[in-house]
Amino acid sequence: MRDFEGKTAVITGSASGMGLAFAECMGREGMNIVMADIEEKALKVAAAQVEALGATVLPVVTDVGDEAAMDHLGEATRAAFGSPHVICLNAGVAPASVPMEELTTADWKWTFDVNLWGVVHGIRVFLPELKAQNEGSLVITASVAGLTSFPWLAPYNATKHAVVSIAETLHTELANVGSAVNVHCLCPGMVMTNIGDAARNRPKELRNEDEEAAEFAPSPSAGSDTDLSQFAENFEKIAKKPDEVAELVLAGIVEERFWIETDTYYRDTIQTRHRAIESFESPPAAQSVMDPYLHKLGGA
Ligand SMILES: NC(=O)c1ccc[n+]([C@@H]2O[C@H](COP(=O)([O-])OP(=O)(O)OC[C@H]3O[C@@H](n4cnc5c(N)ncnc54)[C@H](O)[C@@H]3O)[C@@H](O)[C@H]2O)c1
Repeated sequence: MRDFEGKTAVITGSASGMGLAFAECMGREGMNIVMADIEEKALKVAAAQVEALGATVLPVVTDVGDEAAMDHLGEATRAAFGSPHVICLNAGVAPASVPMEELTTADWKWTFDVNLWGVVHGIRVFLPELKAQNEGSLVITASVAGLTSFPWLAPYNATKHAVVSIAETLHTELANVGSAVNVHCLCPGMVMTNIGDAARNRPKELRNEDEEAAEFAPSPSAGSDTDLSQFAENFEKIAKKPDEVAELVLAGIVEERFWIETDTYYRDTIQTRHRAIESFESPPAAQSVMDPYLHKLGGA
């Protein structure tokens, strides 16, 4: 898709971080923007920010894990703008990173409700009209955590692996019937957003008593001050900004690319995992998701 003017984008998780950057970027392209998010106040502020760029915006308070709320998002979109052309299924959360035995059922359920069911509902609600008009793009925000299995992130990894598989499956199904609808699987590394404070939107009934006490833990192996200060320095230098990711997404849509990668720091880890699978070897000693940031910089 090359011509965005006057078309409509629906973006979940767009009150903050990457979703907000997608809304700004697509708004600048002349698209109508449907902004869906669970955080009502932040959504209001974000919608005003995108409107100030000259875009027509429809904010819809939505819990992506709620089937009826996602049905409503589809109806509100059609009523305001007709069929949309770009769907960004982007809302996501991450529970505190802890060893697996410390996870609660609520940790798993919350992460699956948002990261997996949000994508499933989004596809169910919007795919039929994209297919019927035979034009459009579905952007699924996965993660490098969907391409390998970092320790201490089990629910997050599991949901991101699941959405990578859903994106691949849908891509193949559409290609098999000659559909012109494109699927894009966005696999960011670290991006400077508010995901570290994802618990701000955690439903009361799925709260984890220990969550406030659970500190962000960069790595099971990263104990020394040297590692941590190196991490802070590297993070500041190389973690992507949301608007950089938004430009990559826009380019991915124009170029009809399935994979959208934000940096190459995780390629070795991903390739090592895939080679082990190919030769049926045990998983290699996996580093943490923070590993590329703990060492002197290389890569791109
Ligand atoms: N930041 C990173 O380093 C990084 C890396 C890889 C992938 N991701 C993925 O990027 C996506 C966007 O996250 P971000 O980093 O911009 O974080 P963010 O916290 O800044 O934005 C996420 C948005 O999702 C919203 N949200 C949370 N629960 C929701 C729900 N139930 N229904 C609707 N909206 C909900 C939040 O209110 C927030 O506005 C997520 O899927 C995340 O997993 C982030």
